[in-house]
Amino acid sequence: MMLSFAVPALALLSLLPTSLAQTFSECDPTKKQGCPNLPALGGNATFHFNDTLYDKLWLQPKKQGKVDWSEKGATFTVARQLDSPQLDSNFYMLFGRMTVVMKAARGRGIISSAILQSETRDEIDWEFKGDNATAMTNYYGKGNEKFQGRGKDFDIPAPQDDFHNYTIDWTKERIQWWFDGEMLREVTYAEANGGADYPQSPMNLRIGAWAAGDPDNNQPGVVEWAGGEVDWSDAPYVMTVQEVFAHDYTSAKEYSWENMDASGTWDKVKIIEGQSAAMEEYLKPSGVRNRWAALGKTAQIAIICSAVGAVIIIALVVLFCCIKQRRAGRRAAAAYEAQQNKEAAELHQFLGQPVGNGRMGYNRI
Ligand SMILES: *[C@@H]1O[C@H](CO)[C@@H](O)[C@H](O)[C@H]1NC(C)=O
Ligand SMILES: *[C@@H]1O[C@H](CO)[C@@H](O)[C@H](O)[C@H]1NC(C)=O
Ligand SMILES: *[C@@H]1O[C@H](CO)[C@@H](O)[C@H](O)[C@H]1NC(C)=O
Ligand SMILES: *[C@@H]1O[C@H](CO)[C@@H](O)[C@H](O)[C@H]1NC(C)=O
Repeated sequence: MMLSFAVPALALLSLLPTSLAQTFSECDPTKKQGCPNLPALGGNATFHFNDTLYDKLWLQPKKQGKVDWSEKGATFTVARQLDSPQLDSNFYMLFGRMTVVMKAARGRGIISSAILQSETRDEIDWEFKGDNATAMTNYYGKGNEKFQGRGKDFDIPAPQDDFHNYTIDWTKERIQWWFDGEMLREVTYAEANGGADYPQSPMNLRIGAWAAGDPDNNQPGVVEWAGGEVDWSDAPYVMTVQEVFAHDYTSAKEYSWENMDASGTWDKVKIIEGQSAAMEEYLKPSGVRNRWAALGKTAQIAIICSAVGAVIIIALVVLFCCIKQRRAGRRAAAAYEAQQNKEAAELHQFLGQPVGNGRMGYNRI
C-alpha cells in the first residue's frame, strides 16, 4: 500500500507551482564590468493570465500592490498609497515586439503603463492617465531625459472603457507604436538624436499601475503630469491586462555584456545562441488544469486510484476503530454485569434470600 502511494505523490508534486529564481540583478553594463548575462526569450510567446500568472516567467518586483489573475486576465490593483502592482518579464528581447491587450485603470492621478526597459535604462513606453482619453508614447536612450521631442500624446477612445491592442514594434532601424492595428507613430534611429538616444539594448517587459497623483510621495510636477491628485475614497483602481504577446527578434538563449562599453550600442551585445530557458518554460504546460492534462492518462489514473484508495483506507480505519470501540464497550458491559452478578450472589448468600429476578441469574447459584 505504501509503495503504491509513493509514485502518484511525486506526480502530485508536479501539479504544484514552483518559482524560478530571479537570474539577473540590476547592473548597468555601460558603467560596470561583469554584469551577469540576461535570459533571452529567443522566440515568441502569448500570455493570457486567465488561469495563471506564469510565475516562472513574470516576476512581481514591488512589495506593495497586488497583481492577480482573473477570467479577464491579470488585474493590477492600486488600493492605497504606495501600491504599485507590477509584472516584469523574466526574459529579454533584443529588438522585438510587444502587444498588450489591456484596459487602463480609471481614476484621476492613476497611471497605467506597459513598457520595455533595459539594464542601460533604454526604454519604450505606453502610458495612460486614469481620467484622460490619451495614449502617451515615449522613449529614452540610456535614461537621457534631456533630449527633447521624445514624448508624444495621441487622442484615442477612452482607454479605461474597453480593451485595446497596444503594440510596440522595435527593430534596429525604427520604433513603431500601433493602436488597434493602426500605426500611430514611428521614430527612426536617426531621429533619436542621430541614434545616441535610440533604445538598442536587450529589454524586458514591465507592466503596471501606480498612483503618480499622490502628492505625499511624488513631486508636484509628477502629480500635475498625472492629471491631478488621487481621490483615495474612490479606490481601489484596477488595470486589467487580457493578453500579452512578446516576440524576441533574436533567437538567443542569453545576452552577454562581455563586449559592452560606455556606448551601450546594440552591436556590442553578444548573442549566445540556443534554446532559451524562457521558451522551454513557456512550452511546458502551466496552471493546475494544464499540468493535470499533461500528466497523461496513466498518471491521472494512478492519482485518482491512490486518492480513492486513501479514502477507502480512512473509512476502514474508522470502521475498525468503531468495531474495536464497540467490542471494548461490550467487554466492559459484560465485566460490569458479571461484577453485579457476583455482588448480588454475595448479597443473596449474606441475606439468605433472592434479591431480584431474571437477568441476575441467582437462580442458578
Ligand atoms: C511564433 O513562433 C512560432 C514557432 O515557435 C512560429 O511558428 C510562429 O509563426 C510565430 N508567431 C509569430 C506571430 O511570430
Ligand atoms: C484563457 O484565454 C484563452 C484565449 O482566449 C482561451 O483559449 C483559454 O481557454 C482561456 N483559459 C481559461 C482557463 O479560461
Ligand atoms: C489630457 O491629457 C492631455 C495631454 O497630456 C492634456 O493636454 C489634456 O488637457 C488632458 N485632458 C484632461 C481632461 O485632463
Ligand atoms: C495587435 O496589433 C498588432 C499590430 O497591428 C497585430 O499584429 C496583432 O495581431 C494584434 N494582436 C491582437 C491580439 O489583437
